[in-house]
Amino acid sequence: MKKDSTGKDSKPTRRDFVKTTAAAGAGLLIVPSATAFGSAANSSLGLGIIGCGGRGNYDGGEFVRNTDVRVTALMDVFEDRVGATRARFDKMAEEKGQGKIAEANLFKGHRGYEKLVQSKDVDLVLVTSPPYFHPDHLEAAVGAGKHVYLEKPVATDVTGCLRVKNIGKKYDGKVSMHVGFQKRYDEGYRGMIERIHAGEIGDIVLGQSFYFTNDLGRQNKPGMSDLEARIRNWVFDRALSGDILVEQNIHIIDIVNWAMKSHPVKAAGTSGRALRKQVDGIPADYLCSDHFILTYTYPNDVHVSFNSNQFKNKGYRKQGERFFGSKGAAESFQSGPATINYNQVEEGQKVADKIDTGKVDLHLAVGTKMKALVESIKSGKFDNQCEQGADSTLTTILGRTAAYSGREVTWDKMIKSNEKWDLRLNLDSLGGGAVSMK
Ligand SMILES: NC(=O)c1ccc[n+]([C@@H]2O[C@H](COP(=O)([O-])OP(=O)(O)OC[C@H]3O[C@@H](n4cnc5c(N)ncnc54)[C@H](O)[C@@H]3O)[C@@H](O)[C@H]2O)c1
Repeated sequence: MKKDSTGKDSKPTRRDFVKTTAAAGAGLLIVPSATAFGSAANSSLGLGIIGCGGRGNYDGGEFVRNTDVRVTALMDVFEDRVGATRARFDKMAEEKGQGKIAEANLFKGHRGYEKLVQSKDVDLVLVTSPPYFHPDHLEAAVGAGKHVYLEKPVATDVTGCLRVKNIGKKYDGKVSMHVGFQKRYDEGYRGMIERIHAGEIGDIVLGQSFYFTNDLGRQNKPGMSDLEARIRNWVFDRALSGDILVEQNIHIIDIVNWAMKSHPVKAAGTSGRALRKQVDGIPADYLCSDHFILTYTYPNDVHVSFNSNQFKNKGYRKQGERFFGSKGAAESFQSGPATINYNQVEEGQKVADKIDTGKVDLHLAVGTKMKALVESIKSGKFDNQCEQGADSTLTTILGRTAAYSGREVTWDKMIKSNEKWDLRLNLDSLGGGAVSMK
């Protein structure tokens, strides 16, 4: 840490982290945005959001609530999303006595991200666009010397995941790169995994995992072109989202990999569209599955089942994982609790029936993760979650490949396949450029 004139450690200023990033990063000169917000010694980071939908607004709001980050730039393919998001963050800024987002920092059209990452007002980029675009958006941001919070999944195909791994290696130690797995910052999950890793349930010999949830809301409106309807309804599109396993169920698979300290060696399974057979704008062959049933094989012949659905199911929602070990079992649910169950008897005495490993509160976990990212930037000890994010994404792609083909697929075979989705879309036809807020 830097010393001040009295020899004590002094907090780095915003100018310091920007300088560090610029020097260590892609060699691009980044001018601090302090001019837009007052003093050059101002230590708050400027946040640019790529993809101004539900999660962009939520994550952006959590950055503002939990850290001293200010939203300074917005980009989306659609102008209405930029406009509504701008109004929300301008209001939040006003409540804090801060300035509004500059008109020059509002971008629309699918190439708008290239301009956003170059903005001198942006130090940190939040990527909350559909997953297909994540590798491009990540690469542009770190290439411009910006820190990144990339929402999961990191990509929708093998090629994209391998790209993200390479980006992670190239920019390691130069900028912070977080991936949106907030459960890894949750007290209950952390408590459970730490106890598993400490050997409390012995070796894991079997696992069960599941993600049951409702159908999702349609975002298209009457009169929209097929292209716009498809992008608005991206969560139902295999190429844009990766399918429900990659886009949504990944949160559970990530916990399984975390507990196992490994990714699986192979997978087998099936998927289908039993109830949700059509969604506006989505080509029939690209429509996501509405359920998956899989078996993952981890090293040492440990099997973990996974089962999910995403269709109208009368409100039944439950997501979780169970690990059966040689000395006990652990289970956790997305809505809590995370527990360890012992079944061992030591010297004639049962050790315990059940231990809650901490409160599961994913909203709190998001804030904790954002504080950790900002701290990593300010301290210069940059985090790099690209490898872990890519491995969890590849694990879901492994399951998807097995389910689509109906054959057992090994990890090595999947990696060698170099699979790449073809969007079959002309995004340039959506137009682009500056946003007019008149
Ligand atoms: N960590 C979590 O718990 C969590 C929760 C929800 C969503 N997510 C992730 O966040 C991301 C966004 O999901 P969402 O729910 O906000 O979806 P959304 O549809 O609400 O928002 C996506 C936004 O991206 C815009 N967009 C589309 N194509 C774009 C492009 N090429 N460039 C820039 N913007 C583009 C859309 O117009 C839309 O405004 C996804 O990766 C999703 O998996 C994570």
